[in-house]
Amino acid sequence: MTAELHIVVLAAGEGRRMNSDRPKVLQPLGGAPMLEHVLVAVDGLDPAAVHVVIGAGGDQVRAALETGMPERRWVEQHQRLGTGHAVEQALPGIPAGARVLVLPGDMPLVRTETLRPLIDATAPLALLGFRVDDPTGYGRILRDDTGRVVGIREERDASDAERVIGEVNSGVLIADRDRLADWLGRVGCDNAQGEYYLTDCIALAAADGSAVDAIVCADSDDVRGANDRAQLADLERVLQQRRRDALMAAGVSLPVPEAVQLRGPVECGRDVRIDAGVVLEGDNRLGDGVEIGPGCVLRDCRLAAGTRVAPYSVLEGAETTGACTIGPFARLRPGTVLAAGVKIGNFVETKNARFAEAAKASHLSYVGDAEVGEGANLGAGTITCNYDGANKHRTVIGAGAFVGSNSALVAPVTVGERATIGAGSVVSGDVPADALTVARARARSLPGWRRPTKKTGES
Ligand code: UD1
Ligand code: CA
Repeated sequence: MTAELHIVVLAAGEGRRMNSDRPKVLQPLGGAPMLEHVLVAVDGLDPAAVHVVIGAGGDQVRAALETGMPERRWVEQHQRLGTGHAVEQALPGIPAGARVLVLPGDMPLVRTETLRPLIDATAPLALLGFRVDDPTGYGRILRDDTGRVVGIREERDASDAERVIGEVNSGVLIADRDRLADWLGRVGCDNAQGEYYLTDCIALAAADGSAVDAIVCADSDDVRGANDRAQLADLERVLQQRRRDALMAAGVSLPVPEAVQLRGPVECGRDVRIDAGVVLEGDNRLGDGVEIGPGCVLRDCRLAAGTRVAPYSVLEGAETTGACTIGPFARLRPGTVLAAGVKIGNFVETKNARFAEAAKASHLSYVGDAEVGEGANLGAGTITCNYDGANKHRTVIGAGAFVGSNSALVAPVTVGERATIGAGSVVSGDVPADALTVARARARSLPGWRRPTKKTGES
């Protein structure tokens, strides 16, 4: 029988090097907290339990990660005395005979497949190492003349000779629970940081004559840590490139891939094109042939096949149910639903608004809390006055209605089907179907009126 797998994720560090009020593991990467990426990767190993060691800002960490994911065992580390001490806090919750996989919460590019070789390792202790050109900041893996792993030396405790070692510790290890408990009980804190290092277990294990397996990670990007903002930005670049590569492999066109930011899942149909400077946040779904022009920002949108979003449009919580044209410079806010053939033009803002087929608002409008009927046309500058200072009210515009430019529709108001409203009208009552309604002062001309002239001698 194979031993039960328990996973310990270390997430109690303050992350002083981030210079932030936010706990380090909540620093966002690709639109999600670093720790979330790690938890998703370990879930793929199907462990008996995942123990997350939290400390500084632990309540924030729990709150950010408790919803929508499998249950975690939250373990408090009240004093941050080092990674070894952190693991010790989790041990009481792990049954005797288990295998324990430990990994840092600040290693967000890790993938399930990267961890799998550790699960397969049989030595009482196995660690995941990797090679880097610049090992600064990492614990160096020490080997004896025969190549046996004999310890790990942390950066700050390393001699000049040890500092040049390019084989470093990822921070991931797997061990038998009971052996680990024994080694941790013997770890001291006589080092440059005065901390109980988890990594000191390696020397203890080697001294006991235990086999220590050092597995080399093929893709070192997977195990890079983020201790400061510069490293976080490095990891972001790697993550973005991975996501863009995946989209392109699936048939999405990114003419300028490095200029596209994917901060959440994107589901794309065939022949989608995403131009330079586009930022996709939250959860977006783009149907076949959707085109997103340069500089657009989309969050949580569902765009039906054939929808075209022209440059510099900002869409949040918007949906199209057929092919539409949007922008340039459009702003679609949550609750916007557009049917096939709808056109939303430049400087048009919509919120909680449904446009039926082929309805149009081509220029300079605000359409909020509204229903726009099939084929209705809102002229330039049409505004729904949906807010009376206390409450929001609805505007209903019938099919085929034509609202003249610069009209204000004071909600609650209903415009009948095929009604025509004269330009510049302020409409505060219902408008009948099939009629022309004009609600503005009539122009008056004063024949013979003269312009004032400047008096002489005065300045
Ligand atoms: C650690 C390793 C180092 C390795 C590197 C890989 C140790 C002593 N060193 O160094 O060998 O090369 O990771 O990135 O383990 N944490 C706690 N409680 C604590 C201290 C830390 O939960 O008391 C957590 C941190 O939140 C972090 C993780 O443990 O997620 C690692 O701590 P960190 O301070 O980042 O260690 P490194 O200096 O990067
Ligand atoms: Ca680290």
